[in-house]
Amino acid sequence: MASEPWLHISLLLLFCFSLVFSLPTGRNSICGYKSCPATKPSMLNVHLVPHTHDDVGWLKTVDQYFYGDRNNIQHAGVQYILDSVIDQLQKDPARRFIYVETAFFYRWWRQQNQNTRRIVTQLVNEGRLEFINGGWCMSDEATTHYSAVIDQMTLGLRFLNDTFGECGRPRVAWHIDPFGHAREHASIFAQMGYDGFFFGRLDYQDKDRRMKTKEMEMLWRASESLTPPIADLFTGVLPNGYNPPEGFCWDQSCDDAPIRDDPDLEDYNVDEIVQKFLNASHKQADYYKTNHIIMTMGSDFQYENANLWYKNMDKLIKYVNALQAKGSKLNVLYSTPSCYLQELNLANFTWPMKTDDFFPYADDAHDFWTGYFTSRPALKLYERLSNSRLQTCNQLEVLGGPTSTSGPFGEGDSDTMRRAMGVAQHHDAVSGTEKQHVANDYARRLATGWAHCEVLVSNSLAVLSGSEAPRVFCENLNISVCPLTESSHKFSMNVYNPLGRTVRWPVRLPVNGSVYNVTDANGKAVDSEVIPLSKSRKEVRQNRGFAKSELVFQVEAPPLGYSTYIISMVQDQPPVSRSKNAVPSSIQNKFLKVTFDSTTGLLSSLTNLETQQTIRLTQNFFWYNASAGNNKESHQPSGAYIFRPNSSDPFIISKTAEIQAVSLYNSVQEVTQRFSPWVSQVVRLYEDRRELELEWTVGPVPVEDGLGKEVITRLDTDIQSSGYFYTDSNGREVLERRKDYRPTWDLKQTEPIAGNYYPINSRAYIKDDKRQLTVVTDRSQGASSIYNGSLEIMLHRRLLYDDFRGVGEPLSEPGEFAHGLVARGRLLLTLSPPEAAADLHRPLAQSMVLQPLLSFQDGAPSPGTKLEFSGLQAALPPAVHLLTVSQWDQDSVLVRLEHQYQAKESKTHSQPVTVNLQKLFSTLQVLGASEMSLGANQWKEDMIRLHWNTEKDALPPTARDPSSWEVTLKPMEIRTFLLRVRLL
Ligand SMILES: *[C@@H]1O[C@H](CO)[C@@H](O)[C@H](O)[C@H]1NC(C)=O
Ligand SMILES: *[C@@H]1O[C@H](CO)[C@@H](O)[C@H](O)[C@H]1NC(C)=O
Ligand SMILES: [Zn+2]
Repeated sequence: MASEPWLHISLLLLFCFSLVFSLPTGRNSICGYKSCPATKPSMLNVHLVPHTHDDVGWLKTVDQYFYGDRNNIQHAGVQYILDSVIDQLQKDPARRFIYVETAFFYRWWRQQNQNTRRIVTQLVNEGRLEFINGGWCMSDEATTHYSAVIDQMTLGLRFLNDTFGECGRPRVAWHIDPFGHAREHASIFAQMGYDGFFFGRLDYQDKDRRMKTKEMEMLWRASESLTPPIADLFTGVLPNGYNPPEGFCWDQSCDDAPIRDDPDLEDYNVDEIVQKFLNASHKQADYYKTNHIIMTMGSDFQYENANLWYKNMDKLIKYVNALQAKGSKLNVLYSTPSCYLQELNLANFTWPMKTDDFFPYADDAHDFWTGYFTSRPALKLYERLSNSRLQTCNQLEVLGGPTSTSGPFGEGDSDTMRRAMGVAQHHDAVSGTEKQHVANDYARRLATGWAHCEVLVSNSLAVLSGSEAPRVFCENLNISVCPLTESSHKFSMNVYNPLGRTVRWPVRLPVNGSVYNVTDANGKAVDSEVIPLSKSRKEVRQNRGFAKSELVFQVEAPPLGYSTYIISMVQDQPPVSRSKNAVPSSIQNKFLKVTFDSTTGLLSSLTNLETQQTIRLTQNFFWYNASAGNNKESHQPSGAYIFRPNSSDPFIISKTAEIQAVSLYNSVQEVTQRFSPWVSQVVRLYEDRRELELEWTVGPVPVEDGLGKEVITRLDTDIQSSGYFYTDSNGREVLERRKDYRPTWDLKQTEPIAGNYYPINSRAYIKDDKRQLTVVTDRSQGASSIYNGSLEIMLHRRLLYDDFRGVGEPLSEPGEFAHGLVARGRLLLTLSPPEAAADLHRPLAQSMVLQPLLSFQDGAPSPGTKLEFSGLQAALPPAVHLLTVSQWDQDSVLVRLEHQYQAKESKTHSQPVTVNLQKLFSTLQVLGASEMSLGANQWKEDMIRLHWNTEKDALPPTARDPSSWEVTLKPMEIRTFLLRVRLL
């Protein structure tokens, strides 16, 4: 008798153990397509997709959204959404939910106890809770760079795989809110193994046409270089953006009638609601090809009280399907985007093909979402620089080994920066469409991320160089501020090069001496010159520094490594000015010559001295007068999202440029032009460079006259561009654009300027048969070609009205001194025959994206300091870009190699190229290599995507790698490897 209770307890224990051990491993899991609910082939199947759209910052910061703080701004609390949904999912196995933004899920998961985690894991393993998209955020598509997009996706996808394994792997990409869609994003998703992609926003004319022709669903062939089907992605346009059909919103934030199904109570409405639902379903089905349709049941931050939604959807499903007994041919079910996608795939149709992109996006005739391409120019630059720093931080974490995260300078990490960059990719972050306090929060996160990286980088450089002397990073070199170089008589400068080949850069250090001695790592003297700081540079700097001059010289650093320069002051008198302010007729170096108009002070021509090609080139600054929303066609004003000039003719800021300084040195020739108290520019030609640099400074944009201003610079040439121009997609492949034209429908142009704007992330160009003018930019911007031979780029915007898209603030950035933001940036111009242009702009753009990291140590380096280091055995071939080098776990490193040329764009470089993985690194022994999907959440051999029939068939797979260590890259290909390594 006494043994009986024991028996019970041990049985119970046994039961508990089996529960604990069987669930998380997913042994019995049937997630993925296998877990999809049954549908009825002879009926119209309506897939209800319960979902929430949770912005990773917009009107509130990401953490305010998570906690549900500041509900006076917007009622939204993601922690409660996840709590509530998990509760409701457990009540009925038929219920489904999808979750998208890993930045939020990660926050929530960390706070859950073992029991909740076990329950959630079970829901995931049964496909009842499904991760969709799965990146850290839902990235913006117009203003992001592919390098940062791939990183943020990898961060989210890795968390999901580490936490849930295969059942956590999203099958579908889901960009329901971004304001237009980039082809490169589709290409990236395809290479990450996604089977399909759904979005909500596209041009209203395009949508009308697609509805009529039932082309809401298509196959997107997202690369002109990659062999199909590598970049093919099934793409679907959702019927209602991402909202439920009208009348069926049952969230606590909605006012639609609940289903009142007790006939004994008042207002019984089942018949009415069911009929309304049947009508809505059949109407929607008219626009789609198969007998399956999808309804997005949710919206922004919905499901905080998920019971409301599920209780009513349960009833809807029950009553609608009950009619099947009376002959109804409509079947409604809880589903997910991947289950819907599977049905489309099983339909085995041939889908129309799309090869261009979905920019620009307009939701009405005068409502072009082309302003955000430029909104918040300083945040856009900071985000881009932060990407460069994160890559450097990642690389130095690998090269420096374990000491880099815990070393002489303390504890450092790359994770903080990775997560800050992850949220910065969000479609209301780098896009510039958030409230001001949220923009400040993104910037603060990036700064904190860099502070963590700074420690890591200092530790790593200490290991690599053998010097533990304090190291200083100067954040404000762009405004000629660096306390150490301004005051020190002798210091060393470490130049870290994150690129896979030796690169030369010009550097400019704020100084107060007049003559300096600069030597390189071999003790060789380097030519340097001291150039007085111009008046306009002092005006921008204000009292933040006290340098009178800048020391200019060229530096060179080896691949994935550093070089050290030693700088000592020889004379500390004020510099002898060699500046004058007469308009020069021209400046030139070995490669380029630029002429100026002697009466206007503007540029007048550009000549490539190697090819003897000349273009007429006039450049000036203008502003479009932002619509205040008070004209008769439409009340739409310009705002953070929307660009709407109230006239197609921009105002010229000044017909002439006052020449403030002309500095003709050996290392650099500069002409400083001043157009107004708030617009100036330095036209600059460095020795030995094939590009002309235009360094613009714009702001504070005056708005006291009551006019919002959208500032552009325009390059007018005699190139016969015939209405064509070219813009990159997320910094990679280039798309052809044509004024007042869309490749896939007959455009009715209603905004002659805004409707011709496109995003550029790294470059734009115009060309004719003989000459191509390419502009490489330092951040994402909007650009267009309105006139034959002309290229314009929007640099800055300051506006007085909100544009009614939710942000609720006019875009008027206060800047550091609260009188308006001053933005400064660079445009790099190259001129060449079209067939040689890519050889110039591809490497130039990569060196703009991955900039050298400068760090300084006071005094002379201590004896024994290693002044030069390269992490590579040799420079990579010119076509190969080292996209990722990042510590994965203790003994493995994630490496991405990229072919950086498009097919056919370069005679010399658009060829397959082979790299040996074992011969890459100088300090790492590679013990093993496994290829992964682009998102690094799947082994390449397991990446089997759904097959789709298309109008143009895919080609059979081509050549294999020469050997297991030698990998071949074809144009535009990115290959991802996990390398097992040992530090040598
Ligand atoms: C799908 O369609 C293709 C041609 O359109 C056909 O060859 C193939 O047999 C079909 N597959 C199935 C499973 O019906
Ligand atoms: C995904 O996670 C599983 C389970 O932890 C692991 O075995 C697998 O290697 C991971 N896959 C990748 C590609 O990292
Ligand atoms: Zn959103």
